[in-house]
Amino acid sequence: MKILVTGGAGFIGSNFVHHVLNETDHSVTVLDKLTYAGNRASLEGLPEGRFEFVQGDICDAALLDELFPKHDAVVHYAAESHNDNSLDDPRPFLDTNIVGTYTLLEAARKHGTRFHHISTDEVYGDLELDDPAKFTEQTPYNPSSPYSSTKAGSDLLVRAWVRSFGVQATISNCSNNYGPFQHVEKFIPRQITNVLRGERPKLYGTGENVRDWIHANDHSSAVLAILDRGQIGETYLIGAEGEKNNKEVVELILTQLGQPADAYDHVNDRPGHDLRYAIDSSRLRRELGWEPRYEDFEAGLAATIEWYRDNEAWWAPQKDATEARYKAQGQ
Ligand code: NAD
Ligand code: DAU
Repeated sequence: MKILVTGGAGFIGSNFVHHVLNETDHSVTVLDKLTYAGNRASLEGLPEGRFEFVQGDICDAALLDELFPKHDAVVHYAAESHNDNSLDDPRPFLDTNIVGTYTLLEAARKHGTRFHHISTDEVYGDLELDDPAKFTEQTPYNPSSPYSSTKAGSDLLVRAWVRSFGVQATISNCSNNYGPFQHVEKFIPRQITNVLRGERPKLYGTGENVRDWIHANDHSSAVLAILDRGQIGETYLIGAEGEKNNKEVVELILTQLGQPADAYDHVNDRPGHDLRYAIDSSRLRRELGWEPRYEDFEAGLAATIEWYRDNEAWWAPQKDATEARYKAQGQ
């Protein structure tokens, strides 16, 4: 297969591209605008014959008209992805997440291309800390932030294009990813790189908020399973039973880096901060036979810390500007 990967220079997209080229015979074209979040260096060393990079915008219909006929499938990762940025300036989230997804769907419709839409568990809103429930494919949509509401909107566009126009699409909603190539604005890389620079980790609010962590490679293998065996028009939830509160994660990072577990600061909370996410991925496991491979979070975190330690040249250029933005928000 020839796969067009939108947003392939971002965190999860680049991990997917490495995974596909390592684990399958497929070839890949990345279409990426290279916003502040895209990094060409995340795609170095890939086999030239099976990999191509195109810099461009998913809102550019003429460019999509050139690219779609050359590919068997499109996997759509491109997005504005950071909740904090969406609170500061929502507009790019509407442009890329809504209009961009719409433009891709129109191209998929015109060219009859198989389409897989990457989405998030945040479309379901949040759960109480003591609620035994988890999100399932049946949970009603209830997004909280400008980011998650634009992702919810993009999911609904995909569903409508399947039903109204017969577009051959699937959707997946995944929980919080961790691993290499994640921008330092995000929670785990921010805290690791703070400690590596001799700064203290910053915990929003009380630190009791829970996220359901999954290694980016497990997300990639799940997406490949859906592309291969998923039913058109269906949604699959991706998660690996990785619930941890933010305080526990910061303590693990500090301990693994040889610092006292309490050497962190509490900072201003995120407005509207979702309390807890938790995914029930039993449909994906039962129907498509998918299983996560990186179930030991502490081992995965240690490997991620090693990656940031070894790749300072990858993250250092972004670190000062990112911290200056947080400082201005009291975070
Ligand atoms: P990211 O911010 O690291 O990467 C996004 C990429 O999209 C960047 O390379 C950027 O340059 C590119 N991009 C942005 N706007 C574009 C446009 N208009 N045209 C072309 N390219 C554009 O994001 P991420 O964390 O890798 O997330 C990727 C996808 O996975 C998103 O759709 C996100 O909603 C979803 N997701 C993320 C997580 C997570 O934990 N990070 C979990 C579940 C789902
Ligand atoms: O659940 C999937 C989502 O996970 C994806 O859709 C998003 O694209 C992705 O960014 C992520 O969203 P979160 O808002 O959960 O991730 P973030 O890394 O921003 O924050 C994780 C948690 O850590 C959250 O509770 C806020 C908290 N946090 C974050 C930062 C940056 C802190 O306590 N301190 C921080 O410095």
